[in-house]
Amino acid sequence: MDRPEPELIRQSWRAVSRSPLEHGTVLFSRLFALEPGLLPLFQYDGHQFSSPEDCLSSPEFLDHIRKVMLVIDAAVTNVEDLSSLEEYLAGLGRKHRAVGVKLSSFSVGDGTVGESLLYMLERCLGPAFTPAVRAAWSQLYGAVVQAMSRGWDGE
Ligand code: HEM
Repeated sequence: MDRPEPELIRQSWRAVSRSPLEHGTVLFSRLFALEPGLLPLFQYDGHQFSSPEDCLSSPEFLDHIRKVMLVIDAAVTNVEDLSSLEEYLAGLGRKHRAVGVKLSSFSVGDGTVGESLLYMLERCLGPAFTPAVRAAWSQLYGAVVQAMSRGWDGE
C-alpha cells in the first residue's frame, strides 16, 4: 500500500483536532446509522443503550470517542513511522475482538468504520477534502487497520 502523504494528513487533521468530541460524535452517529448492530457492543456496568442518541450522550461513551480521537492523533503524529504503533494497535485489535467487534466492520473498502471516518472528514473539511486528502486518509486508515487486524489472527 502507498504511504500516506504526511503533509496532507497533518494539515487536514489540524481542523478536526480543534474539536475532537464534536467530530468524533459525527463519526459515531454515522457509524450507528450504517451499522445499528454495533450499538449493543457498548455497555457500561451492564447498561444497554436504547438508542444511538442515548449512547452518544453518555459520559462513558464520550470517553470512548475521546480515546478513538487520541488513537487517530497518535497515527497522525507517527504517520511517517507507523511501525512504532504496531504492537499497540495489535493489542487494540485484540480488545475489540474480545468485546465482540467483527473485523469486517473495520475492513478497508466496505467497512463501516472507515466509511464513517471519511464521512466525518468530509463534513469537517468541506471543499478542502480533496481527492488527494481522501486518498491520503484511506492509506493511513488502511495501515492502522492492517496493524489492528493482527488482533483477529487465528479466527
Ligand atoms: C466498530 C466500532 C467500535 C466499537 C464497537 C468499539 C467498542 C469498544 C468497546 C466496547 C470498548 C471498551 C469500553 C470503552 O473503553 O469504552 C472500546 C475500547 C476502546 N476503543 Fe473502541 N470501538 C470501536 C472503534 C474504535 C476505533 C476506530 C478506535 C480507534 C482507532 C477505538 C479505540 C478504542 C480504545 C483506545 C479503547 C480503550 C482500550 C483500552 O482500554 O485499553 N475504538 N471500544
